[in-house]
Amino acid sequence: MSLAPAKQVNFPQAVPDSAGIPQGVLDQMLTAPFNDLEAVSSLLNEHNDVAAIIAEPLQRIIPAQPWFLEGTRALCDKHHVLLIFDEIDTGFRLAYGGAQDRNGVIPGICTLGKIIGGGFPLAALRASAEIMSHFDKSVGGADKWLMQLGTLSGNPVAGAAGLKTIEILRGDGQYDRLRSFGQQLQDMQTEALNQAGIAHRICGHISSAIGYCSFQIQFGQAELIAMLELGARNAVIPLCDTRLNAPR
Ligand SMILES: Cc1ncc(COP(=O)(O)O)c(C=O)c1O
Repeated sequence: MSLAPAKQVNFPQAVPDSAGIPQGVLDQMLTAPFNDLEAVSSLLNEHNDVAAIIAEPLQRIIPAQPWFLEGTRALCDKHHVLLIFDEIDTGFRLAYGGAQDRNGVIPGICTLGKIIGGGFPLAALRASAEIMSHFDKSVGGADKWLMQLGTLSGNPVAGAAGLKTIEILRGDGQYDRLRSFGQQLQDMQTEALNQAGIAHRICGHISSAIGYCSFQIQFGQAELIAMLELGARNAVIPLCDTRLNAPR
């Protein structure tokens, strides 16, 4: 919810990104602008029934200001609220230990996906033994038990692929290589866009260049086609937010 709203968000009201989200779910959520610690603080002061804050530590193309994650961690501690990091994209990518390691801010729960499955369907949760005990009826007790199962849960092929991928990532210099590839991709995109005379700004982090590079540009269809052609020639896949396009 409110991940990439197509219209101006009316904070703190959550805006559904998809059809099929019941009003009851909307009513259970509050949203704050990313990197706005004051907004997070005032929401926690106004609402004493907040169970958890969930955030991507790198919000798509917006890197977190160092004080934002630290400050949110401190606010969660102060208000006894669980902090959840969605590290589906950043886990094993920004660094081996994900954004939490890179920023030195440890969430109560962290979600992982993508790299952890080495290209196969797999997702995982990381939390303290106390929190994880809720998934085990024999430990947490029947009244605190949370059902956690699925067709692909514990898929051995994905598990093997993920373990191998992670083993490779642990090798010497792998993250330097990843960042260097990311830098090269960004440079190629910049060059292609400059050649096409398109004003642009590349956002995100080089280690996630493929996933996060986006262009904050206003361009028409002809420019988009020129950019795609140039991108194809340079083996660059431009990822654009088409909602920003202004057809001429
Ligand atoms: C940041 C982020 N969170 C969550 C998801 C959803 O993950 P899953 O497909 O494992 O439900 C995605 C999917 O692309 C994602 O990019």
